[in-house]
Amino acid sequence: MGRPGGQAGRSGEPLAVTERLVSRVGACRDVLWGRRVEGHSGRSMFDEEVISFAHGNGLRAPAPAVVAAGIGALLDQSGFPLQRYNFLERYEPLEESIHTTMLREGFPLEHLDAICIDAGTSKLFTSFLSTVTAPGDVVLAAPGFYHGLVGWCRMLKLGIRIVPAAAERSYKLTGAGLDAAWSAGDWCKARRAGVVVVFNPTPSGAIYTAAELREVADFCVGHDLTAIEDNVFARTRYDPHAPIAHLADDERMRDRVVSVDGCSKADGLANLRIGWAVGPRHLIERLEQVKVATTVALPYVTLVMADAALRREWQLRQGDAAVCRHRAELVTAGLAELNELLDVPGEAGFRVVHPPQAGHSIMVDAGPVGSAGGHLAPFRNSLQLAEDWLDRAAVAVSPLYSCGLDGHEFRLNFASINRTARAGSGRREHPAGRDPRRRAPRTVGRDDHDAVRQLARLVEAEGDAPPPIDTAPGLIHEGLVRRLASALHPRALGRPRTHRVVSLARVTREPSSSARSRLSAAATG
Ligand SMILES: Cc1ncc(COP(=O)(O)O)c(C=O)c1O
Repeated sequence: MGRPGGQAGRSGEPLAVTERLVSRVGACRDVLWGRRVEGHSGRSMFDEEVISFAHGNGLRAPAPAVVAAGIGALLDQSGFPLQRYNFLERYEPLEESIHTTMLREGFPLEHLDAICIDAGTSKLFTSFLSTVTAPGDVVLAAPGFYHGLVGWCRMLKLGIRIVPAAAERSYKLTGAGLDAAWSAGDWCKARRAGVVVVFNPTPSGAIYTAAELREVADFCVGHDLTAIEDNVFARTRYDPHAPIAHLADDERMRDRVVSVDGCSKADGLANLRIGWAVGPRHLIERLEQVKVATTVALPYVTLVMADAALRREWQLRQGDAAVCRHRAELVTAGLAELNELLDVPGEAGFRVVHPPQAGHSIMVDAGPVGSAGGHLAPFRNSLQLAEDWLDRAAVAVSPLYSCGLDGHEFRLNFASINRTARAGSGRREHPAGRDPRRRAPRTVGRDDHDAVRQLARLVEAEGDAPPPIDTAPGLIHEGLVRRLASALHPRALGRPRTHRVVSLARVTREPSSSARSRLSAAATG
């Protein structure tokens, strides 16, 4: 069972909470980008030697058939060619695929009345919030929310009210928590409108039950509030056949909730920037107006690739779910091994806050180990801990300091764990302002079309190739067990003590000689 974790903004005016969270998100990004105080630089999560559990990408690269469909779309003069705006035009095949996907997801037909497709769920969130709120209104969300929420609220001058939530309830919203958030402080006397944001599943993979969603619905209906339900991790659930409940299942919510999903996670197309919202026509039409005014239209290649991905998504889902479930088990086992190496009993060591039922990451509480800080001074919070581990252990984790939690909670993303997350590092600007490795693109003339078609065929044929060896299990072990163990307990590895030594015995006890030998073996083995 969880310890009660602190939560940012339990008290305080919502607008001030937004500002506080903005600086927290900025501080977390700086640390992960390798920016340190007073212009110093440290390790970045993008550095090659770093094992990163902080990336938010999906599990896999898109299937070759999806890439081939995109290449085909680039050449398709009968569709929406590149020179055409595609303004106000609809691409019906994708709308049909979305409709089918959402029906399979169990959404009631009435909720699929209207669909707005835009450049990612982040874009749809901002469109939604901008159409249903006015500056000074309040957004209610449970701690552990997706950190993007902070920037959206800042941009729209919205206050954030972090709803009290318990680790034991996997930081999900509850009726009691919402009531407490609504009635606390003076801000509600100003009769500001509110929007409830539900991440279902949560970013750490907890899924709401129908009864839990009913509590949220009761609250929304009782206070006449609108809601947005983020379902981007729903299609990654580990039991793909198990039904999942939605806020829109409740008839009373149909008129006041919009549900969003997209291709970034379940379909491995994060860089394509595509997502959709479904819901009542009066709300979806407003999203469509924002889309036409801002995104204008989505690239045809994006629409075609998303359609191709959704059409084959179900086939891949079970395989992906099995891989994620397995990796979640490896992370859990790795943390148990780490606790053993550090010679801390389970409840005093790293603790999985709740086992994920979906998604790509696990929420962990470093608890007393985090407070003791290994051989360093105690970490004040998960931000300090993330900075220390990045610099000393070359392990990147995602601090939940940016998501409203004040303690030592962090997330470990196991889907896109890799060392070279992208080609080249965008962190440090090239002195000349331009990276010489990036050559000017060659102009593609008509004669090249055959070559491109051939390329598309080759890419598609890649689908028959044996899958590459999965390096993730080795990286999970090396990052979580070997690197963190040696960084957290250097004395046991025979490194010299420094005056800053603070023993883990402060929270537990000295490592036993057998633990010391296990540590040495882990560090050298
Ligand atoms: C829970 C959640 N919702 C939304 C997003 C944003 O997704 P998109 O790429 O569709 O903007 C993310 C991205 O990490 C996320 O984790």
